[in-house]
Amino acid sequence: MIAIWGYNKTHLLTDILFFRYISYSQSPELREFMRASLEPDALIVQVGCGNSKLGVNLFEDGFRFLINIDISRAVLAQMQAKYRKKHPGLAFIAGDATALGWPDACVDAIVDKGTLQSLLLLADGMTRVESFAREAWRILRPGGKMIQILGAKGMQIYLRQKDLPWAVKHKAVPRKGIGGMAHMYTFMKPHNAAGGVE
Ligand SMILES: C[S@@+](CC[C@H](N)C(=O)[O-])C[C@H]1O[C@@H](n2cnc3c(N)ncnc32)[C@H](O)[C@@H]1O
Repeated sequence: MIAIWGYNKTHLLTDILFFRYISYSQSPELREFMRASLEPDALIVQVGCGNSKLGVNLFEDGFRFLINIDISRAVLAQMQAKYRKKHPGLAFIAGDATALGWPDACVDAIVDKGTLQSLLLLADGMTRVESFAREAWRILRPGGKMIQILGAKGMQIYLRQKDLPWAVKHKAVPRKGIGGMAHMYTFMKPHNAAGGVE
């Protein structure tokens, strides 16, 4: 099995297996955190959007340059059908977060709630997460950031690679309704970093 089991912490397992997520609309603290972390005119990509309302909430809150990607065309079709009329400017497109193939340094910010977790659960989870970290680093502009919204502390360490000198900040916020805390990890790509992965 994969290394996350090594944590031996019931809440971590529960969060990983049952995907209990903080909700943007129910958490003023999460909203405040996102608004403080992201520039309104930033080009943001949400990886593994699923059928979550996070991207919609951010868009409605004024983050108008937001691309939602997911590997599942079924979930994308669902989201496109649901929001096409209401928000024609909100993009839902197919993509693999571990290999997007987009140009180097092309986005200002990446937001993830749950995709790191999904990748870790795969048999080759460690390899996938490393690819995800490298792809995130490559597509982020220097000075850009990836925000990981996690249900437990711990998973973020798998994004850290020796040759990717992220500056990482952590903030915990209460999870209304489901209890416990959500953990925001901001992975900043330094301003002086090279555009892509060497
Ligand atoms: C646990 S769900 C989280 C969904 C959503 N972000 C939320 O907060 O509810 C993980 C999502 O990641 C997507 N996913 C899994 N692997 C992916 C990959 N390699 N690239 C893009 N999306 C992926 C899945 O299809 C799924 O929608």
